[in-house]
Parts: sequence; structure tokens; C-alpha cells
Amino acid sequence: MGELRATARAGANIALIKYWGSRDPALNLPLNDSLSMTLSDAVTVTTVAYDPDLQVDEIYLDGERVLDDRGTRVSRQLDRIRVDYYRMYARVASVNSFPAGTGLASSASGFAALTVAAIAAFDEGLPDGRELSARARRGSGSAARSIPGGFVHWRAGRTDEDSFAESVFEPDWWDLRDLCPLISTSPKEVSSSRGHRIAAVHPFMEARLRALPGRLAAVQGAVADRDLDTLGALVEHEALEMHGIMISSTPSCLYLLPRTLAVIHAVRNWREDGLGVYVTLDAGPNPHLLCLPRDESQVLEAIERLLPGTRVIANQPGPGTTLVQEHLL
Ligand code: PMV
Repeated sequence: MGELRATARAGANIALIKYWGSRDPALNLPLNDSLSMTLSDAVTVTTVAYDPDLQVDEIYLDGERVLDDRGTRVSRQLDRIRVDYYRMYARVASVNSFPAGTGLASSASGFAALTVAAIAAFDEGLPDGRELSARARRGSGSAARSIPGGFVHWRAGRTDEDSFAESVFEPDWWDLRDLCPLISTSPKEVSSSRGHRIAAVHPFMEARLRALPGRLAAVQGAVADRDLDTLGALVEHEALEMHGIMISSTPSCLYLLPRTLAVIHAVRNWREDGLGVYVTLDAGPNPHLLCLPRDESQVLEAIERLLPGTRVIANQPGPGTTLVQEHLL
């Protein structure tokens, strides 16, 4: 065995068709297929270094040792990998280019990077993308979609092995821009794993599941046609439908803040003024504004006028999870 260390870089993703509701919370098997765009600039870099002398995993997130639930989740994911390779504890260091735990899909990029680094560190060759995606999914459902790049389809599947995500269009297919103003960086009150369990028994879910296959095909068609107006109308509706279920769940997952609503209203007004911009949201208050490159600077100016001084993460379709040679440990 060589050095037993590897580092991976993964982009978060924004769901165009959402995953909200799990059929099997232990394996993160979703109730429905979903579709996303891997993000170029909201990224996680993770180094995993196994050490035969360690008696416990040592986990550092954004420079600080973590001993709480976040560390336990990382160790559990390492356990799922170690069982198929070598049983050895690891030092793990992970840094995000954006605040974690705020509905910006840090768990997606985080578990994608962790999974690839943890397997690569054993230096036995990486499995194919489907297996990597299924393995990342066990850490966090949406992480399945951060293994491939570009526009990504996660097939719900029936079993642990056949629930994985693949690219349907590579990153250079369409230069769609995703602008994410960070209106809040506080952690969310209801975790998404709890949210997935309560959503599965929501009375609206049946109607949602009936509508989704047709909506997913329409969204995929709009990406194929590079048609922002069709895509935008579909994804705005999809995000608000998911938040309708979230808000009316027990307990209620009210992730939207007053400023989130201000952005949604503003986007509608900007559109009436002729600007091509649409909004979507994941499990948090930070909106994602979708537009074409030619409108990006105008959208950024409009955000600055509405929310002066707010940091905006500007993304385009990003690559899948890759190994990098600059290690954090
Ligand atoms: O992977 P999780 O358990 O954090 O689920 C994320 C769910 C949403 O971001 C709200 C939607 C999605 O499809 O990413």
C-alpha cells in the first residue's frame, strides 16, 4: 500500500426537479427521479488520509475539528466504504467555497468529494461513475448528483445499486448562469434528512408524484433546446411546489425568509421589465437566480440594488467530482 491519501473536488448542485421525500431513509432512496445542474463555483475540496495509528476518525471542516453530528455522518460514510476495502481510521479535512448547512447543498458536494477521496485513498482504482454516485447517495441523497458534471439525471431506481445519477448534458452544452445571493448563512432548523421523512407522508405527495415524470421530461426538453423561458417557468413552479409541501409539513419546514420572498417578488418584477431571469430554491433561504450570460451583469446589478453588499456566488454548469493533487493534509 502506498500513501493512503487522496483529495477530491466536487461542485454542489442546484435541483431543477427536486428530490424531497425518501422511500428508504436509511439508504436515501428517493420517491422520485430528479434533475440538477452541477455548480462550477460552489465547491467542496476534501482530503482523506488513512493512518493505521489512529484509534478514531479525526474530522476537520473548514479548519475546525468537529466532534458533533456532522463528524458522525462523515464517519458513517467512511464506514460504508471501509467495509469494502480496509478497516482503518482516517484524518479528513474539508473546505467549502461557501457556507455549509444553509441549503446551498454543501452535503451534496461534501459527500461527493468525501466518497471519491475515501475510495481513491486506498489506491486500488476508482469504480465507475454509477457506483460512485450510488455510494455518494448513501451519505446524502443529493450527493449522487454531484458525482457527474453538467446537467444530471438521478434515476430513483428500486434498489441500493440502481439508484444513481448520470450526466444527460455535459457542462459545455449550455452556458446557463446560476447566481446565488447569500441572504442568510445561519444553519437550517429542520435538517433535510428529517424533511425527507416527513415529506413522504404528506397528503400532497401523491399528486406531486403523478405530475413529476411529465415535468421532468419537459425540463429536460427545455435544457435540450436551451430554452430559458420554458425552463425557468417550470423550475420556478417546481421550487414553489416543493416549498408548499415543506411549509405545510408537520413539523413545518419554513426555510423561506422575508428576504427570500423579496427576491422572488423582485425577480417577477424584473421579468416584467424585460430581464430574462428566473428563481429556484433548495432546502434553505438562499435563492438561485437563473439567467443567460448576456443578462448576468444586469441581474447582478439588480441584486446589488435590492440587497446592497450581499455576496453572490456566480456559477455556470460545472464538472463532476475530480481528484486533485493539492492536498489539505
Ligand atoms: O441531499 P439532501 O438530503 O440534503 O436533500 C436535498 C434536497 C433539496 O436540496 C431540497 C432538493 C434537491 O433535489 O437537491
